[in-house]
Amino acid sequence: MSQENVDLEARLEEQEAFEPPESFVEQANVSDEGIYDEFEENWPECWERAADLLSWDEEYDTVLEDDDAPFYRWFTGGTLNASYNCIDRHVEDGAGDRVAIEWEGELGETRTYTYEDLLEEVNAFAATLRDLGVEEDDVVTLYMPMVPELPIAMLACARIGAPHSVVFAGFSAEALATRMNSAESEYLVTCDGYYRRGDPLDHISKTNEGLEDVDHEVSDVVVVDRLGDELEHDLAENQHDWADLVDDNRGETVEPVSRDAEDMLFLMYTSGTTGQPKGVKHTTAGYLAYTAWTSHAVLDIEPDDTYWCSADIGWITGHSYIVYGPLALGTSTVMYEGTPDYPEKDRLWEIIEKNEVDIFYTAPTAIRAFMKWGKEYPEKHDLSSLRLLGTVGEPINPKAWKWYYQHIGGGECPIVDTWWQTETGGMMVTTLPGVNTMKPGSAGPPLPGIDARIVDTQGEEVDAGNAGYLTVHNPWPGMLRTLYNNDERFISEYWEEYSDEEADEWVYFPEDGAKIDDDGFITVLGRVDDVINVSGHRLGTMEIESAIVGVEGVAEAAVVGGDHDVKGEAVYAYVIPEDGYEGNDDLRDQIVTGVEDAIGPIARPEQVVFTPELPKTRSGKIMRRLLEDIASGNELGNTSTLRNPEVVDDIAKEVQGD
Ligand code: WT7
Repeated sequence: MSQENVDLEARLEEQEAFEPPESFVEQANVSDEGIYDEFEENWPECWERAADLLSWDEEYDTVLEDDDAPFYRWFTGGTLNASYNCIDRHVEDGAGDRVAIEWEGELGETRTYTYEDLLEEVNAFAATLRDLGVEEDDVVTLYMPMVPELPIAMLACARIGAPHSVVFAGFSAEALATRMNSAESEYLVTCDGYYRRGDPLDHISKTNEGLEDVDHEVSDVVVVDRLGDELEHDLAENQHDWADLVDDNRGETVEPVSRDAEDMLFLMYTSGTTGQPKGVKHTTAGYLAYTAWTSHAVLDIEPDDTYWCSADIGWITGHSYIVYGPLALGTSTVMYEGTPDYPEKDRLWEIIEKNEVDIFYTAPTAIRAFMKWGKEYPEKHDLSSLRLLGTVGEPINPKAWKWYYQHIGGGECPIVDTWWQTETGGMMVTTLPGVNTMKPGSAGPPLPGIDARIVDTQGEEVDAGNAGYLTVHNPWPGMLRTLYNNDERFISEYWEEYSDEEADEWVYFPEDGAKIDDDGFITVLGRVDDVINVSGHRLGTMEIESAIVGVEGVAEAAVVGGDHDVKGEAVYAYVIPEDGYEGNDDLRDQIVTGVEDAIGPIARPEQVVFTPELPKTRSGKIMRRLLEDIASGNELGNTSTLRNPEVVDDIAKEVQGD
């Protein structure tokens, strides 16, 4: 080990705070700490800075309208088009030759789209959608894996003013149907299949199965051919091959539709505490301005950078920080189709070296897997092109932070630990990499203009050093506008808890617990509702429970999250078999299949524990906390208030015995 590495090793052991390197600060997009005061003193007009990153067809009149809070409206009077902002204007500025999307296929093939190429593809697909009859405000569902046609389809939708609703390709047929039904979506873009660890995976059969459960007529389905001859399949009458349609429209130009600032850009379904997923609605101007601004200020993206976020576009991270934010800034964004360990465990580092990636944004669950695999994999590659690292999706433990800092960043890249949600549209709590000290494990202060506070159950701010509930006391441009067709649930889920309606004071509650330190740094502790976070993916325990009780032979089920050293949390299912059924391997297999069919493999239970009873309070409420402690192997607290304390030991033995 070189002396330098020895020093870094020692420094990492001791230090609990890290300063950004001078070389980073010198070139940072934001390096003046005065920005916090500027935003505070000039709120909400400060958000003009974000709006200034966009090109408007019609300038907006008002930054924020709050007369109908919490239905806030941003940049009203303004009109613009997101596809124009992400593509055309860069071509008009002479950057047509710059790479927009660098796609890395799992099998090693690549596809490079310059901004000029992207414009051509998006125009051709926008013309295709129009030919099929898609009109402004029609919701188009995109059920696609990480192929370039996914961002192309998103931008084509944006171009014609049709909101997209992307459904993660790993979700089940049933999940697809639920989302298409909820959005009354009549158009679907999908894929024949894709590769996972080198093997072709059938996606079209799952799609067709889902379509059978759509309760309205689906006019057209466009199918991308990713697998060629590897998968034989027939297209139904209303199904069309992507390439056939697009080739007919190549060379077409479709004028970007001028959208009202508050017109819907997309819908994204996310899990909540009930079985029914929530359709989070994001609008054109506020969302785009906010993702562009945070990409600029936090991810430090410059047009000549090569930037890579390893998330899937099927989740909000990919929407905001693979597609909209980076492309609005005119940078080159990398997209990887596959898994990080195929063909070898150094795949990501190989991609970074090959593309000379400047900025890399990933999830703590991935970092914990890299740690497990060992530092020899990144050491095989030259990662010196990196300037900045980021994480998102769940809390990052200091050990993983330090490993990332040392073995990927070489001790020279700041790390931004970004807290946000599907609903917030973009980052909310994190350090500005050119300004703040970093504290491993703590996300950082709220971003400029964001009034996040940690409060107790009464809504009073807690003292430094204490834990409470994370709340946001000012609106921000990237916020969700409502839940699709469900204003009531929008209020009850996010605003009711801490707002004072009489006083017209609105407080957003993200349902996370957090603590705050003397410097105002926030450490997010995790969800406080019945939602669990598995590998950075949000899963509703109710959704999983209802899938399990749908299995023949199951009487009752309780699902909780238990600690997992790579996934963060894992799904634990406690199941009471019905009379006449046995809790055996057969039933266990059916439960696992039931969950995969209802939601997808990501929700697969880590362990299914059969029990004749669940621990309940005297009033009949399941003691979830206790089940969580059992799953995590924690010491069990007092069980004397239970109606049936004796079941606890039996369940604990069963879990540990496995
Ligand atoms: C939930 C949101 C934001 C895109 C990915 C997930 C947790 C997110 C962090 C972080 C601690 C985090 C929260 C949040 N979370 N980022 N940096 N530190 N926790 O989006 O599916 O909407 O989930 O992820 O619990 O509420 P999502």
